[in-house]
Amino acid sequence: MLNDKMLEMLNNQVNAEMASGYLYLSMATYFEQQDLPGFANSLRVHAQEELEHAMRFYDYIIRKGGRVTLLAIEEPKNEWNSTLEVYEEILAHEELVTSLINDIADLAIELKDHATNQFIQWFIEEQVEEEELAHEDLRKVKLAQQSTQVLYMLDKEYGEMTFTSENDE
Ligand code: FEO
Repeated sequence: MLNDKMLEMLNNQVNAEMASGYLYLSMATYFEQQDLPGFANSLRVHAQEELEHAMRFYDYIIRKGGRVTLLAIEEPKNEWNSTLEVYEEILAHEELVTSLINDIADLAIELKDHATNQFIQWFIEEQVEEEELAHEDLRKVKLAQQSTQVLYMLDKEYGEMTFTSENDE
């Protein structure tokens, strides 16, 4: 059985991952509007990954005999001033998600909840990857700001991204 506080945090994380997906999907609509379909595609792929993250928490709660409680998903922001602003926000958002994951890990340690501690390790590693990617994207977008050619090359690169499930890793 899951401790009550832990169950609440895990349910909140189902919501946070869904909200991340919703935010990235909203960013995708911004890029569709900007005529940058490759950027839109990469954000759509990212949104799908976030939904998969939410389902990892969902499935874990069920496996531990807990009740999943779905909370309201906040309306995401839908306007940005530039491509750079979007990517700065992605990095800040991923840093926020990392802090939420760390809070779950801290509670698992405090409660000596070994199962949840083990479960959350996948996300700790995932967040290292997500922040690394966000930094990399930000670097690329900064370069693209100086040249339309780089921007369109990047749009082409992002247009080739496809969703692959991380569940088998
Ligand atoms: Fe599931 Fe991008 O954090």
